[in-house]
Amino acid sequence: MPATAFPSPKGSNAPEQVHITQGDRGGRGVIISWMTPNERHPNVVRYWKAYDPSDVYTAHSQIFTYRYYNYSSGYIHHATIKKLEYNTKYFYELGRGDAIRQFSFTTPPRPGPDVPYTFGIIGDLGQTYASNSTLGHYMANPKGEAVLFVGDLSYADNYPLHDQSKWDIWGRFVEKSTAYQPWIWTAGNHELDFAPEIGEYLPFKPFLHRYHVPYKQSGSTSPLWYSIKRGPAYIIVLSSYSAFTKYSPQYQWFEAELKKVDRHETPWLILMMHAPLYNSNNYHYMEGESMRVIFEPWIVQYKVDLVLAGHVHAYERSERISNIRYNITNGLSTPIKDKSAPVYLTIGDGGNIEGLANNFTNPQPFYSAYREASFGHAILEIKNRTHAYYTWHRNQDDEAVASDSTWFFNRFWYPKDESN
Ligand SMILES: [Fe+2]
Repeated sequence: MPATAFPSPKGSNAPEQVHITQGDRGGRGVIISWMTPNERHPNVVRYWKAYDPSDVYTAHSQIFTYRYYNYSSGYIHHATIKKLEYNTKYFYELGRGDAIRQFSFTTPPRPGPDVPYTFGIIGDLGQTYASNSTLGHYMANPKGEAVLFVGDLSYADNYPLHDQSKWDIWGRFVEKSTAYQPWIWTAGNHELDFAPEIGEYLPFKPFLHRYHVPYKQSGSTSPLWYSIKRGPAYIIVLSSYSAFTKYSPQYQWFEAELKKVDRHETPWLILMMHAPLYNSNNYHYMEGESMRVIFEPWIVQYKVDLVLAGHVHAYERSERISNIRYNITNGLSTPIKDKSAPVYLTIGDGGNIEGLANNFTNPQPFYSAYREASFGHAILEIKNRTHAYYTWHRNQDDEAVASDSTWFFNRFWYPKDESN
């Protein structure tokens, strides 16, 4: 889409590219982020409960800037507000003078086994007309309360010299959702912006300046992998593009992290990463394979419910399968049905500039339950500790239509076969 479709908001030094994400471990914190184009200040966020507008709180942002080749960023603000009430609508306000902008969000319920909560799932969004269709389609469905975003945000790196203004335009494009509900971020390959040919050697530089996450609260040493609890879900975000082999920081953190999950508090254990561990498309063949080999035994041992990924620009849902018997010499290299295994979802169909991955392997393998190269998004409606209803929505259909839908049964509380 042209840059002119997403101009800066009106007013002097108006705050723009507003986005929020969870700001603490359990959902009582929010990180509010925005950019001011010309001046550092104001760097204040004013916020209040919808039911008590007389009691206004304030928080100040930390301010960051970065340079990338010939681009200098505006002032990037990240303000963490904490100790919010659960299940409560808040308004917040940024800017001053002729550039005051007001938004709102609703905090999640206190983590607990039977609190319903609905997530949207979007990946590989980019900034094309198809991206616009995906985002509009997601927003037309009133159910989604937070977005699990599986990586590849702006695709700025597909433009000459990794045109950083594309990151700004993307921030303005998605603001109509990201300012009002938290998007839980995962880093994809298009976040790397590693370009030694133009003197840019620091992987993830733009992404890490622009998108902050509460990684320290989960004992992580990197914003590229972290976890949160939100309502009935324990969400672990991994990085496909950081070291994950034995002894690496990510490996050590993930090993310790899985032991912390209490399914009595958060029954639904969800992993997110960018490159899928199971997929039957010819695009990005084997790119998630080394992570699968290393982490799949834990994924099955800890009865992860769902593994969300993107990267392949198509939609796919797996059966519950595992492939952990294989030891190189025993010949048992075929996935088998496994009721302790998760369902693997590939939602790389957000609509980016690279187009669809319409080249599946044939025949469709038995472990692939549904696959289709269409743009869309998914909705995960967690009902209680045993059941979640899941739907995938293609852009070409009305919002109410689900092309793929299924009930997921919780692996800890109700580990039955969903296909019966
Ligand atoms: Fe990708």
